[in-house]
Amino acid sequence: MDNSEIQQLKEALAVSPDNTYLRVILVQALLRSELWDDAQNECLEILKRDSENVSAKMHLAQAYYGKEEFSTTVVVLEEVLQNNPEQLDALLLLTKAFLKEGDRQQAIDTYKKVKSVNPHRVDEEIEQALTLKSVDENDREESDFSTQVEQQVQPPSPMGISFAQVGGMEKDKGVSEIMIFLPLIHPELYQAYGKKIGGGILFYGPPGCGKTYLARATAGEINSAFISVGINDILDMYIGESEKKLNLLFEQARSSSPCVLFFDEIDALGANRSDMRTSAGRNLINQFLSELDGIESQNDGLLVIGATNAPWHLDPAFRRPGRFDKIIFVQPPDLISRKAIYEVSLTNKPIENIDYDKLAKIAKDFSGADIKASVDLAIENKLRIAMKKGAPTPLTTQDLVAATKKIKPSTKEWFQTAKNYAMYANESGVYDEILEYLKIKK
Ligand SMILES: Nc1ncnc2c1ncn2[C@@H]1O[C@H](COP(=O)(O)OP(=O)(O)O)[C@@H](O)[C@H]1O
Ligand SMILES: [Mg+2]
Repeated sequence: MDNSEIQQLKEALAVSPDNTYLRVILVQALLRSELWDDAQNECLEILKRDSENVSAKMHLAQAYYGKEEFSTTVVVLEEVLQNNPEQLDALLLLTKAFLKEGDRQQAIDTYKKVKSVNPHRVDEEIEQALTLKSVDENDREESDFSTQVEQQVQPPSPMGISFAQVGGMEKDKGVSEIMIFLPLIHPELYQAYGKKIGGGILFYGPPGCGKTYLARATAGEINSAFISVGINDILDMYIGESEKKLNLLFEQARSSSPCVLFFDEIDALGANRSDMRTSAGRNLINQFLSELDGIESQNDGLLVIGATNAPWHLDPAFRRPGRFDKIIFVQPPDLISRKAIYEVSLTNKPIENIDYDKLAKIAKDFSGADIKASVDLAIENKLRIAMKKGAPTPLTTQDLVAATKKIKPSTKEWFQTAKNYAMYANESGVYDEILEYLKIKK
């Protein structure tokens, strides 16, 4: 598309500014020429006249994506999808935007929707980003997409988040450093003191406070292999196969040593044990324990991280020495961390003079996810106004305060449950940190 064609379209529009069809053609030309700002303005122009114009919204999302404003892209696409949940182009672009934001899980979920609308639709770029090596090379033809994507080996420095995108949590970052990076970077020091590298670390705490996020950021910081596993995928295998799958995972981790093996929502193992959906429950736990102990193979250079919202559902055998013997309470963000999370969440967004201290104060008891949700809500509200007016205005403190007040802090409920365990089932003081946090005397 050469510029003369764009010029002609613009001239035609100057004569008949209400010709939406013509303007859509212009937008398409601008997008092809990667003139993102112009495309954005023209889309807003269309939406000013016709706020429900789906193709203008779709193109607007493309323009934001081109400008690398990914969270705005997400907001616009979610609007499109609200009325047309099966719009494939919107779903595909949304997957890419989530990938760019480092939100793998959301990307996977969205791409699954693409597949459910049209199983034959393939997007090379997305699949390459999502599907890394299948763990079991001689896997059966039963190589279900979802199990492939959720068990990947990430190469060193995978695209995605790093500590810079984690707001606050300085203590947790410090712990990660001592327990994860240093052993991997300086194994000789650890050996000199007779300490073996390896063993397991369990992150626990209320949902949305950054356990998964921290683990992923850790992967972005280290130069070691990082394998991330969803327990539910292992459980979903047919009877007797899950143990084998687990063993293969550990074997692969050992052969890529030094390596971090991350099991998210690890309590699913314990939770599934009692409902005995399969008789494999106990076997799988035993398999897991013997892999942790490294009975048949050496676990040197292998770090296992588990994360859970409900550590009390985990078999106590997991916490014996040499297994998950380091237990870290990932608590809700304090004032300073909340401020930092607001700052991180608003990076690269159009803002003016934000009073971060005020926001952090209002967001008492908020999880990181709650804060992100309030920022998203503020952007959404702003965008709705911008689409009507046809002109974007920057976010203000007032916008964010209003949105923050609409969101309910989600950590309180968790503490109600946690308190009971900490007070009445606090074997060898595992949950002392919860009591401290709640200022309850031991
Ligand atoms: N410290 C933080 N800095 C920035 N974002 C955070 C932080 N903690 C949580 N979040 C946001 O909240 C979302 C949910 O956090 P997540 O790690 O999934 O919680 P958990 O695993 O503890 O339930 C993350 O994807 C991220 O967007
Ligand atoms: Mg999580």
